[in-house]
Amino acid sequence: MNVCEYKPGLEGIPAARSRISYVDGQQGLLEYRGIRIEELAAQSSFLETAYLLIWGQLPSKAELENFETEVRYHRRIKYRIRDMMKCFPESGHPMDALQASAAALGLFYSRRALDNPEYIREAVVRILAKIPTMVAAFQLMRQGNDPVQPRDDLDYSSNFLYMLTEREPDPFAAQVFDVCLTLHAEHTMNASTFSAMVTASTLTDPYAVMASAVGTLAGPLHGGANEEVIGMLDEIGSVDNVRPFVEDAIANKRKIMGFGHRVYKVKDPRATILQELAEQLFQKNGSDHYYSIAVELEKVVEEKLGYKGIYANVDFYSGLVYRYLGIPTDLFTPIFAIARVAGWLAHWKEQLTVNRIFRPTQEYVGEHGHSYVPIEKR
Ligand SMILES: CC(C)(COP(=O)(O)OP(=O)(O)OC[C@H]1O[C@@H](n2cnc3c(N)ncnc32)[C@H](O)[C@@H]1OP(=O)(O)O)[C@@H](O)C(=O)NCCC(=O)NCCS
Repeated sequence: MNVCEYKPGLEGIPAARSRISYVDGQQGLLEYRGIRIEELAAQSSFLETAYLLIWGQLPSKAELENFETEVRYHRRIKYRIRDMMKCFPESGHPMDALQASAAALGLFYSRRALDNPEYIREAVVRILAKIPTMVAAFQLMRQGNDPVQPRDDLDYSSNFLYMLTEREPDPFAAQVFDVCLTLHAEHTMNASTFSAMVTASTLTDPYAVMASAVGTLAGPLHGGANEEVIGMLDEIGSVDNVRPFVEDAIANKRKIMGFGHRVYKVKDPRATILQELAEQLFQKNGSDHYYSIAVELEKVVEEKLGYKGIYANVDFYSGLVYRYLGIPTDLFTPIFAIARVAGWLAHWKEQLTVNRIFRPTQEYVGEHGHSYVPIEKR
């Protein structure tokens, strides 16, 4: 391939050499640092997986305990950040609130000692610890309530659900939520990761790197599909309406949300894992209307579009799980961000070790040789 050829969206052009994750879309394989996602979902936790992604290897027992403890004690946010968030309009999108708050962290902690491993570690811990607190705080504040303080006796995911709902979380629901975070933690080179790397390559502070990635994830072509799944299930309304809905969508070339993937041409391995967990969750706590529609929808889509390699993707089931946990639809993408922060931090750290500022080129297709025309003569 001629590397100088212009490719819209840089499609197919390697932007980095990375050791962080690997996807094989034909085989339905996803690995973080060489470990299959199925093994991590079954045996690891989100924080352990984040450690693996960021530092390149699984932590020892002591390393994991230290890391969890550090994250636990950095969950609180400064009252000035809370006060700033209180001024955000309640009608604003939580992704915009998160982007602004992530950037605001830089006002308090930026020192840019990027060659100091301690600085890197502190930034990693702070970001992983505080992002969920900021998401939950905005949720409560936009309802007119004071944010609740994080609870040190709860693990990462239980604490987030507690901060969001002010209720003791069901342990199995918290475990399923933790797996959702693990599954969304990293996915090779994509728009938000690239955005994080471009920002990182200028050697700015890590909070600016995160804010830039959050802003990129916010767009509907990237983070928003799981929100749309719920809207679509609302539109379908009943199990009986599934088949006519799918037939109509196919006839009118309308995309069915939560199905298909640019890379996976077999079932997304993350969707398989989440489907099993969602089933267990619904069986344990009582099925819901949406789940019955979703099961029928997956069956009909596979029957009609499976031959094209269109299967359920991770967003199909994560939307269902989050809805079942009582999480408002517009928090689905911020939750994606809570998880993906692990991958962004891993790429930030990797970028620093081989840094060269991103400076692609362009093909100029404009004109030359015009003269300036004074305003009264235009
Ligand atoms: C994710 C997505 C953008 C991948 O798209 P892609 O790899 O570029 O695939 P294309 O859009 O070129 O689609 C290839 C074919 O499959 C069909 N197709 C792809 N996804 C489909 C879907 N969700 N529903 C119905 N048909 C779909 C296309 O219409 C096209 O059919 P054609 O060959 O007859 O024209 C696409 O599948 C999609 O929009 N899915 C719904 C949104 C979603 O769930 N996004 C989250 C991804 S994690």
